[in-house]
Amino acid sequence: MRPFFTVLLIVIVLGALVTLVKALVPGGVPVDQPIAFNHALHLGDAGMECGQCHTDAATSRFAGLPGKEVCLDCHDIDEEEGSHPEKDKLFAYADSDDEIPWERVALTAPDVFFSHRRHVTAGGLDCLHCHPDQPLLTRPPATTGLVMAMTDCIACHEERSHTVDCLTCHR
Ligand code: HEC
Ligand code: HEC
Ligand code: HEC
Ligand code: HEC
Ligand code: HEC
Repeated sequence: MRPFFTVLLIVIVLGALVTLVKALVPGGVPVDQPIAFNHALHLGDAGMECGQCHTDAATSRFAGLPGKEVCLDCHDIDEEEGSHPEKDKLFAYADSDDEIPWERVALTAPDVFFSHRRHVTAGGLDCLHCHPDQPLLTRPPATTGLVMAMTDCIACHEERSHTVDCLTCHR
């Protein structure tokens, strides 16, 4: 009988751990962005760079999402109104006092500390190191998701002889 109970106990403990980890790690929550923004088009045809829209990445913890004035630098309501349904959504925000209510989709676990400034400025890392698929996206992701698994964070820290102490990331 005893091996049976031992196996049962292991199964129960593992099951509880998996449930706990799933509850802690964000992901898969549906997101409906206010405008179906196209990264591929703006980085390709329009020749833009990440930092033109995500202006805080070099100086802050968060990279930030663009305000409407960034978009209206190029998109002219008088010339383009009625030419594309997603542009008309932009122009509706332009006409109102509201900012574009972009939602956060790229996440890490709630207890994990991550700073863009530390990696982009101090670490000298390119955005594409960690967001390799972003330039290919023709529309926003439909659900939230983890940017990177813990094993990938740790792999680079080890490669660069940087700390892998649990409490560096889990605060
Ligand atoms: C013309 C402006 C613009 C440029 C240039 C741009 N982005 Fe974005 N980015 C956005 C907007 C708007 C969103 C929110 C809508 C979406 O998810 O597409 C976004 C979302 C993101 C997100 C998800 C953020 C979240 O909401 O959690 C990441 C990651 C990202 N961009 C990375 C990049 C990288 C890396 C580059 C350069 C290769 C880049 N972006 C270039 C405008 C831009
Ligand atoms: C540097 C100039 C520039 C900036 C800044 C810019 N765009 Fe664009 N955008 C373009 C170009 C070029 C095109 C492709 C030609 C066209 O459709 O006008 C385009 C196309 C679009 C389209 C229609 C095409 C499609 O498939 O989606 C939408 C919608 C759009 N942009 C929204 C935005 C939003 C929202 C922002 C701000 C986050 C923004 N743009 C910032 C240059 C820009
Ligand atoms: C070392 C990996 C790494 C690098 C380099 C990196 N990012 Fe991120 N990025 C992340 C992680 C992890 C998250 C989720 C962080 C969170 O939830 O606090 C994230 C979230 C984001 C977001 C959404 C939330 C926010 O911070 O506003 C945007 C936008 C973004 N990154 C853009 C960029 C851009 C642009 C660059 C280059 C200038 C860049 N990232 C460089 C790992 C990275
Ligand atoms: C370099 C940063 C980093 C270090 C160091 C690190 N972690 Fe993590 N950890 C993460 C990230 C990011 C996640 C969320 C992504 C995932 O689940 O893979 C995570 C997720 C976890 C989770 C899942 C639950 C949660 O918190 O979201 C556990 C448990 C965990 N880590 C334990 C540890 C332990 C124990 C150590 C030390 C041996 C450690 N981690 C060291 C970055 C790190
Ligand atoms: C491609 C390499 C790379 C990846 C991927 C990476 N890091 Fe880092 N990280 C670094 C480097 C390099 C530094 C040190 C930068 C400096 O010189 O200050 C650093 C520093 C840090 C620090 C500051 C530690 C301290 O000393 O206080 C934290 C926290 C951190 N990273 C968390 C993360 C988390 C969480 C992830 C995954 C979501 C991650 N890192 C992914 C390279 C990376």
